[in-house]
Amino acid sequence: MCSEQVPSGIDPAKAHPARRYNYWLGGKDNFAADRASANVVASGFPTVRLAAVENRRFLRRVVTYLVEEAGIDQFIDIGTGLPSAGNVHEIAQAVVPESRIVYVDNDPIVLVHARALLTSAPQGATAYLEADLREPDKITSHPDLLRTLDMSRPMALMLVATMHFITDEHQPYEIIEHLRGILPSGSYVVMTHATNDHLTTEELVEAEAANQRSGVPFRLRSQQEFARFFTGLQLLSPGITSVVEWRPDTPPEQRPAISDVSMLCGVARVP
Ligand SMILES: C[S@@+](CC[C@H](N)C(=O)[O-])C[C@H]1O[C@@H](n2cnc3c(N)ncnc32)[C@H](O)[C@@H]1O
Repeated sequence: MCSEQVPSGIDPAKAHPARRYNYWLGGKDNFAADRASANVVASGFPTVRLAAVENRRFLRRVVTYLVEEAGIDQFIDIGTGLPSAGNVHEIAQAVVPESRIVYVDNDPIVLVHARALLTSAPQGATAYLEADLREPDKITSHPDLLRTLDMSRPMALMLVATMHFITDEHQPYEIIEHLRGILPSGSYVVMTHATNDHLTTEELVEAEAANQRSGVPFRLRSQQEFARFFTGLQLLSPGITSVVEWRPDTPPEQRPAISDVSMLCGVARVP
């Protein structure tokens, strides 16, 4: 953090994904351990900052699409991260002030900043739950979630740059299956995920070794492994693709190379 003061309950010596991502996005809410971990990852995947920026641009485009074109005004955003320019409620409520958003993260530093996530437009509502995605039942049965959203109406479940922190022993596909169970028909599932698809064998070895050294468990997934999260859902055009190419708002010559971003996305409707 700017002056390295440590809010209580926070361990500054251990790198955390939210603070590391904040560093890549140019924020100041991070500690030396987060910056060291971020630099280790960048040593194995030098364009990681670009990936963070493009992921955030996708978030803005997809929330705008969902509110403006799909008529969605309720969101569950799991793996919220530290407040940044364009939080989900700010994007959604700029179009529909009545939008209701439940934020979820397991990093105590996000809770410290949650007030910024709770500044809802008076017509809408926001809530913040400190909960772990690896225990999805604690999210889906949480009274604040049930109080904030109308569970009989469609909503969007957002897992943006979050599922790659769920390694295989934590049953990532079963977690998504559980979360999908509470979504009424006409809801949407939005996911982005770091991929190993564009890496050569040597680059993959390098990237995975760097991830291991960084101290944050991380699982790169192939397009096929990522697509499995959407089984039984109706993928919107253009299907599973790079975040750079999902309904882009810039001409092709201004977009970065897909391999430099290496982040997949999918947006799907619950039938
Ligand atoms: C890379 S940030 C993404 C932030 C935001 N969704 C975005 O795309 O800009 C990932 C977030 O997921 C959170 N996260 C990681 N593992 C989690 C878990 N098991 N339960 C809840 N949140 C988790 C981290 O704390 C972090 O805030």
